[in-house]
Amino acid sequence: MRIDGRDTRTIWLGEDGTAVVVIDQRALPHRFALRTLRSDAEAAEAIADMTVRGAPLIGATGAYGLALAMATDPGDGNLAAAYGRLLVARPTAVNLRWALDRMRAKLAARQPADRRRAAYAEAAAIADEDVATCAAIGEHGAGLIRAAWERAGRSRPVNVLTHCNAGWLATVDWGTALAPIYKAHRAGVPVHVWVDETRPRNQGASLTAYELLAEGVPHTVVVDNVGGHLMQHGKVDLCIVGTDRTTRTGDVCNKVGTYLKALAAQDNGVPFYVALPSSTVDWRISDGVRQIPIEERAADEVALMTGETAAGAIETVRIVPRGSPVANFAFDVTPARLVTGLVTERGICPASEAGLTALFPREEADR
Ligand code: MRU
Repeated sequence: MRIDGRDTRTIWLGEDGTAVVVIDQRALPHRFALRTLRSDAEAAEAIADMTVRGAPLIGATGAYGLALAMATDPGDGNLAAAYGRLLVARPTAVNLRWALDRMRAKLAARQPADRRRAAYAEAAAIADEDVATCAAIGEHGAGLIRAAWERAGRSRPVNVLTHCNAGWLATVDWGTALAPIYKAHRAGVPVHVWVDETRPRNQGASLTAYELLAEGVPHTVVVDNVGGHLMQHGKVDLCIVGTDRTTRTGDVCNKVGTYLKALAAQDNGVPFYVALPSSTVDWRISDGVRQIPIEERAADEVALMTGETAAGAIETVRIVPRGSPVANFAFDVTPARLVTGLVTERGICPASEAGLTALFPREEADR
């Protein structure tokens, strides 16, 4: 995407050819800051503290984390240790394990002396493939938005509701749920996006709004509980969200609150689409509610709010009484029966094992 007139990805190699540079997403939308990662431990920390976030970007950062480890010590012991350190950085997005497994398979087959070069090449391939994959998701999903526009007699913009941030900041470029919106917008299809603020970390209000503003896509930020009301009043043509892990049967795990939007969508006959790269499918599991680990994060993410004062200072304030217990479940699972379709890099399919395996027969066989 273009930021301040420059084409920008979310992760790239530093000038020394070894360090890895990422956008510090914790500072957005107030400041555009970069963070340099110099070791696999720093990459794991950046994933855990959400300097980088979003399932595909977590995967790409994990891959570069292993490359950083190989630059220091390409031995078998360090490969195993770095793999383990990175794998536990965040539990829900399966793209992390997918990327680490792909890296480890490539590296374990080589002599240690060859591993540094191979690791950087493979991490770059994962990043490049993510860009192409998300662009393809965008092309397929844009067709849904164009079709909604045609159904409305081209008389008004298509209203899309999205939750959290599944845009270019969540991937290497383009995004998953936002890629169809960018492609439709660039093709001249008028789109308006309802942006769920996405408590507690406000990825919608902070990141999705930041992205849409930069791209010139009309949008409105709403609090998380408004979606049902909008749908009851015909103000949403379709929902598109991302996912951190999708079972082979089509259950989708995404940012907490997604499930409630899917319920409201079904009650109101609003199509509910989930956009994902195939690296987000966990082919080993079939029951999202019981088998997907749901990350529980720090209570302070709920109890405290950070924002910019009128004077431009960044301040954090408490909004929950000291002493009140707080729970912070970061994700929930939307059962496949509530999902209209999965928008993948190979096209759109039903949220079912038959649907996914029709598009990805080899991956299913390998599981
Ligand atoms: O906790 P986050 O910000 O990493 O959660 C991100 C999401 O829930 C996204 O919707 C998901 O990763 C899909 S990203 C293309």
